[in-house]
Amino acid sequence: MHKVIYDTDPGVDDAMALLFLHRHPEIDLIGITTVFGNASIETTTRNALFLKREWDIAAPVAKGADVTINPSRKEGAWPTFVHGDDGLGNIGVPATVDLPVDPRPAYKFIIDTVRANPGEVTLVAVGRMTNLALALKEDPEIAGLVKQVVIMGGNFYVPGNVTPVAEANIHGDPEAADIILTAPWKVVVIGLDVTAITTMSRGYLGEMAAKGDKAIQLLNDLSQFYIDFYKHAVEDGMMVHDSCACVYVVAPELFTTITGGVRVVCGGIADGQTIVKPDGRRFPPGDWDNLPSQVVCTGVESEKVVDLIRDTLLTA
Ligand code: BDR
Ligand code: CA
Repeated sequence: MHKVIYDTDPGVDDAMALLFLHRHPEIDLIGITTVFGNASIETTTRNALFLKREWDIAAPVAKGADVTINPSRKEGAWPTFVHGDDGLGNIGVPATVDLPVDPRPAYKFIIDTVRANPGEVTLVAVGRMTNLALALKEDPEIAGLVKQVVIMGGNFYVPGNVTPVAEANIHGDPEAADIILTAPWKVVVIGLDVTAITTMSRGYLGEMAAKGDKAIQLLNDLSQFYIDFYKHAVEDGMMVHDSCACVYVVAPELFTTITGGVRVVCGGIADGQTIVKPDGRRFPPGDWDNLPSQVVCTGVESEKVVDLIRDTLLTA
């Protein structure tokens, strides 16, 4: 059984990934921590509570960061054209959801939960890396107590999605991403190299909704706006970014990987770019020396990933 804390900014593709974690029989979802990104922290936290209520998820929700780890960074506009004004495809999420949030901030929830389950917790982070970086800053020893960290973020041998060289989750807080990628714990990086080619069509999701229960029907409804957004890049479908990171936890054999030190560019025109120095490649001394060797996904069996998402969601 994989004990998972899900750090998320729901977010349409975050919602699908949450349902996957909730329904997969080998995953024990022990916490949901929220972060700003696809919308404000108030909205992403409200959305996490909404999905928890609608899908009857037991895991507690802890509210996380609303500002980058370097607070002098300027915030842009929320990507409402991707995820809708409400962050969940403009389905009309209620303004408030009457469920309690955990009294601790997300980073503290992460520290306490990791310390209570040494060596057992997988952190799956699919938004900005701010909460994880704050947790490491407050309690660096957790790096040795976490089982692994699996993130959706970055891009290595393909272009970015918010600039030609940067992906949204990393670009949203590059300093935080650089902290977590250079820390002495195992990070698996699931970036656009694999998520941009892992797509689900509107028809495929519609068939799932027809066969499945109310939870999948809600997922289908909230995904329509996001599918419309993706018409520039996907043939009547969407990239299922965040679910790829969750699938990796239970089916790593569906991904091909390389290992190496990873750094994030902080500032300038390449702000938020992720760069790996593959193990075994020799360069003159530089900024990638003596870093932990992280796992970078470079290939994926996309159809199998999408089928596993479907089969898992339909298990209820
Ligand atoms: C990432 O950015 C967000 O829009 C998605 O939820 C995903 O986590 C993709 O770049
Ligand atoms: Ca996300």
